[in-house]
Amino acid sequence: MPSQITSPIGIFDSGVGGISVLRAMRQQMPNESVIYFGDQGHIPYGPRPMEQIRSFSEAITNFLLEQNAKIIVVACNTASAAALKYLREKFPDAQFVGMEPAVKPAAEHTQTGKVGVLATPATFQGALYASVVERFANGVELFQSTCPGLVQQIEQGNLDGEETRKILKDALQPMLEKNIDTVVLGCTHYPFVIPLIQQIVGDNVQVIDPAPAVAKQAKRLLEAGGMGNQSTSKGEVKFYTSGDPDVLKSMLLMLLGEGGEVEKVNWLNDLYIEQ
Ligand code: DGL
Repeated sequence: MPSQITSPIGIFDSGVGGISVLRAMRQQMPNESVIYFGDQGHIPYGPRPMEQIRSFSEAITNFLLEQNAKIIVVACNTASAAALKYLREKFPDAQFVGMEPAVKPAAEHTQTGKVGVLATPATFQGALYASVVERFANGVELFQSTCPGLVQQIEQGNLDGEETRKILKDALQPMLEKNIDTVVLGCTHYPFVIPLIQQIVGDNVQVIDPAPAVAKQAKRLLEAGGMGNQSTSKGEVKFYTSGDPDVLKSMLLMLLGEGGEVEKVNWLNDLYIEQ
């Protein structure tokens, strides 16, 4: 069935990270229905080979298109780094919104000329990051950290425990010593720990969450294609996970501020997702 204006927006991430983007989408487009895919059976993506992330992203895109998604939001910096270009070539009729670390607004904002970037190893290794730095860093010095273990802590709902605090301190303290005044969140999991990050870096450092800009871009794309849902009633959000549906369900209120139906899906040989 071809997608229609009442069809859902498809969105995916390796886990709960993309919910930070979904949250912004719910604020900006509450009338749109959404299907969210969290590949929690494969999390984390960050340390995985690019090829494997590409293959997961392709199967998830197929799954979302089969659920009639009218656009696909790749709410994961890592999957965007590894697969966005490939997905656009592989699915020329589909429309994608992807993510890249917000180096551009950070370079425009910084006064000290020093910016911290937090993202996964795959994101830093990808051509997308290299191109963003080349185009937008403009002489600004970037300090990078992969925050090992942070994604897993956030997946467990540990948003301000000792371990999470330690990982963030280890990442941010050396950057503060270099006089950064801006931090880019280059992983969609990290907006959930903004209060903790802000506590560590203080009020004089600006933390950039790209989620509102990504949601805005998705809205713009829908409107430009005449695909925006004009309904005045609230759209539904349906979740699919390759992990434990009860765990995801129990975290929704905390992460999104609303609940939703969660369905378990299974991978076949890591290549296909069972419908
Ligand atoms: N949320 C993903 C991102 O934006 C990464 C998490 C992972 O390593 O799986 O990069």
